[in-house]
Formats: sequence, structure tokens, C-alpha cells
Amino acid sequence: MYCVRKVTEDLYWVGANDHRLALFENIHPIPRGVSYNSYLLLGEETVLFDTIDWSGCRQLLENIQHLLQGRPLDVLVINHMEPDHGASLEELLLRYPKVKVISTPKAFMLMRQFGYHVDGHELIEVHDGDTLTCGGHNLVFVSAPMVHWPEAMVTLDTTNGALFSADAFGSFIALDGKLFNDEVDFEGDWIDEARRYYTNIVGKYGPHVQVLLKKAAGVLDQIRFICPLHGPVWRSNFAYLLDKYQHWSTYQPEEQAVMIVYASMYGNTESAAQALAAKLVEQGITNTVLYDVSNTHVSYLISEAFRVSHIVFASVTYNLGIYPVMHNFLMDLQALNLQNRTCAVMENGSWAPKAGDLIEQYLDQQLKLMTVLNARVSMASSLRPEQEGELDILAGAIAADMAEG
Ligand code: FEO
Repeated sequence: MYCVRKVTEDLYWVGANDHRLALFENIHPIPRGVSYNSYLLLGEETVLFDTIDWSGCRQLLENIQHLLQGRPLDVLVINHMEPDHGASLEELLLRYPKVKVISTPKAFMLMRQFGYHVDGHELIEVHDGDTLTCGGHNLVFVSAPMVHWPEAMVTLDTTNGALFSADAFGSFIALDGKLFNDEVDFEGDWIDEARRYYTNIVGKYGPHVQVLLKKAAGVLDQIRFICPLHGPVWRSNFAYLLDKYQHWSTYQPEEQAVMIVYASMYGNTESAAQALAAKLVEQGITNTVLYDVSNTHVSYLISEAFRVSHIVFASVTYNLGIYPVMHNFLMDLQALNLQNRTCAVMENGSWAPKAGDLIEQYLDQQLKLMTVLNARVSMASSLRPEQEGELDILAGAIAADMAEG
């Protein structure tokens, strides 16, 4: 059965939702699913903006056939070639061999790399700023390299104000009948998954996102719809979304908040982390969250690290090094370019507590602009009651730093 939604006048969402995929990119859990968005313009010519993941190809074809009503598919615009969007391209070429394909030179290179038989079809290469009239609509193509692959571009339809924004402004979570941002409780129910999507998928490329945001700012008055490749279409409240992107892409914390991440083998480091959390909350810092690094998928930790202003790393020493799962979290923070946070360290070690020095060294040498508070708590096997004062000093140092804000 076809399942389409009208975006505006002659533009339709023709994508699909996926509740079967457990791990996005075979890494990130998506317990609430994901949508792959594709948009069909029924103008004087018919234009499809991006295809979708192979898993939804049958649905895409059914949606397109339903709307085309026997008309040919004239043009296919590929903004982003990653297989969660480009994988159905080959099938579309087989079914609509006369379709003209518009994309960037790099995207055509990737199509060939992935083994799609694009040669022999009409291919139109576009570059940053190129314009084209298609289906009676004026399209402007804007390159968006590394948002999130090097070949990416976005397309602005200046006739109806639709910005086809590729991965930018996307989110995890399947749409399940809803389409627009005002049909979901984005701030209450979606923002955490939107942040987890952005930070883990695009987080590393903040400077590139900044370039795109600056380009978008120049044409903001022409944009009526932001049509990403995952998640809802935005038709209102652009300022809210742009503000989030501004924070994430410049690595500024969204909130004055504390995240305590602990690595604990027998519960003693966990107990110390809990005691610190209680002291912070007693000082009025109720925006404090606590995570067990061993039981929390790192994508959630990354997302929270982008949200908060202060991070406490509490770790046991393991084989005289950093506990491996904590080490993995640090490496992911580095890979995704997180910077500009205030940190604190708690360490444990029954033989010799080494984790504190090593974590601090990692933060200093591998990450950028990380400040480590000089109030480390160190414990041998467990935190002794007589060390409570050390926790007070650490909680006080965090509170004082937050007050300076
Ligand atoms: Fe949703 Fe970069 O692909």
C-alpha cells in the first residue's frame, strides 16, 4: 500500500519508515526507528529529490507509482549519496531509464564506486551556486561538503521555498504517519534523538556545518520548508532548530548541566559517583545526570556530552590503564571533536590508581579546549567515609565553576 504525505502544493513526501533496523550505520541503536525521506515534485516535469535505503525501496516505488499515475519520472536530484539514501538509485534507473540525474561530480564518482550503472543515463553535474529550472520550479544547488559526506549538497527550490537539506536538520525516530515538526512534540519527545543523530553522525564536522548555516542565513527569508533526509519536515520554529545547530556545530554546551560518567567493576566507583551526584543536587545543581559507561551505548554518552557544560569522568584503573570502555568513550569524544568543556576526574585503583592521570592527559593532549578542575578524588578500592570532604571540595569546585558560567 502506498503511503505518502503532501508537503505543499505539488510536493510530496514519498519516503519510508524503518522499525526493523537495530543499529544505524551498524553502530548506533535506534530503538524508535528512523525514517528515510524522499520527496517527489509533480511539476511540469516530475522530480524526485533523493532515493532511500534499500530496505524501503519497495515502499518508495509504490509511493512514486501512485503519485505519477503513469507519468514518467523525468528528473532525479541526488543531494547525498550515502547508501541509506542512495541505495535505491540503481532500481530507479532500471525502472525509469530516461530519468535525468542531477548531482555533484563527487556523488557521480561515488555512484560508480558503489557499482551503480549510471553511465549511459543522462547525468547533469552541478556545482555550488548553479541554478536550473526543473518542472517549472527554480532550483539552486548549494554544495555542503562533509555534511556529512564530501559529495553532499543541498537544493533550494525558490519557487515553493523547500530546502532539501540532506542529512542536515535530520533526526532518528520513525515518522509513523506524522510529517511536520508541529505534528510531533519535538522539544519534549524528539530533541534527545535529534541531538544523538547530529552529534554521532555529523558532530565531527562542526566547521562545515557552520559554513552551511551561514549560507542558509543568507536565504532564510526564502525558506518555507526544511526537508531533511531523516525525521520531520520543518515548516515553523526555524529559530529553535537553528539555535540547536549553532550550539552543536560550535561545540558550545546547550545547558549548564553536569554529566557524571562512571566506570565501576564492583560498585565502589559507582557509589562514589552517586555520592557526588547527591552533593551536587544538594547544592542546587539539579541538572545532573549519571551514566554507567559499561551499560550505556556510547552514542547516548556522546549526545549528552554535547548537551552539558561539565563532565565528571569517574573510572577504575584497569591493567594499570584507563578502563577500556571509558577509554573508548574518550576516543569517541576525540573523534567527534567535542571541545570546550569543564571536566573533573575521580579515580579508583586497588593496586595503584593510575586512571586519573591518564584521563587528564588524554583530555589535555587529545581533545581541544578542555579545562580540568583541580579537585580530583582518588580512592584505593573504595571511597572511605573520612574522604567525604574531598567530595565536598569537588562538588564545590563544580558549583563555583558553573556559577561563573
Ligand atoms: Fe543519512 Fe549521511 O546519511
